[in-house]
Amino acid sequence: MDFTERSDPLSLFNEWLNDAKDKEPNDHNAAALATVDAKGMPNVRMVLLKGHDQRGFVFYTNFESAKGREALGAMKAAMGFHWKSLRRQIRIRGPLEMVSDEEADAYFNSRHPQSRLGAWASDQSRPLAKRDDLVARLQEMEAKYGTDDIPRPPHWSGFRIQPQSIEFWQDGEFRLHDRIVFSRDAAFNADSETGGETGGDTGWSKQRLNP
Ligand SMILES: Cc1cc2nc3c(=O)[nH]c(=O)nc-3n(C[C@H](O)[C@H](O)[C@H](O)COP(=O)(O)O)c2cc1C
Repeated sequence: MDFTERSDPLSLFNEWLNDAKDKEPNDHNAAALATVDAKGMPNVRMVLLKGHDQRGFVFYTNFESAKGREALGAMKAAMGFHWKSLRRQIRIRGPLEMVSDEEADAYFNSRHPQSRLGAWASDQSRPLAKRDDLVARLQEMEAKYGTDDIPRPPHWSGFRIQPQSIEFWQDGEFRLHDRIVFSRDAAFNADSETGGETGGDTGWSKQRLNP
């Protein structure tokens, strides 16, 4: 079936992410994460998608980093995937919620011990005089926590983007790309004159867009 005929964005997302896993040389789950700071100035950087389901799309970070502070300040974000090998793009926008402590612990504990220690050692996004200082801090954390039972730092956890819209883009010949956007944003859904279809019981409405 042509992807533009699909009615469930989550199953389409899963398929495209799996295709990317097969095709991309590394980090098929990497996405650009956009936030805004307190003055409304946009900011963007890459993160890794570490979970997704009906509730939304999860990434983890240091809450005291620039992105952490911006995410906490606005409690909304956008995410963009681009898979060059597949010539596909997915865009996701929506409000943020924090993942539960249990969910964050489970993911944190699945990480390599050095990555767990790194979460303690790095004052993410704040100035670092020299790399040796970071290495020394890592050694300090290793002496303190060892390599087995490393607790999750209180300033490190995950956010979940609760999608209000998910857009799928596939490259087409001569820039005549295919775009569809699924939305459950009230304002969008009210705009029935644009020809959007309601997604039946999926709770999503769908609209094809000009490239
Ligand atoms: C492919 C890739 C994946 C990344 N994944 C994460 C991530 O999941 N979480 C994170 O905090 N930083 C991640 N980073 C680093 C961020 O892009 C960024 O440099 C860092 O988090 C500081 O961003 P900030 O100053 O905007 O907070 C990743 C970088 C790349 C290139």
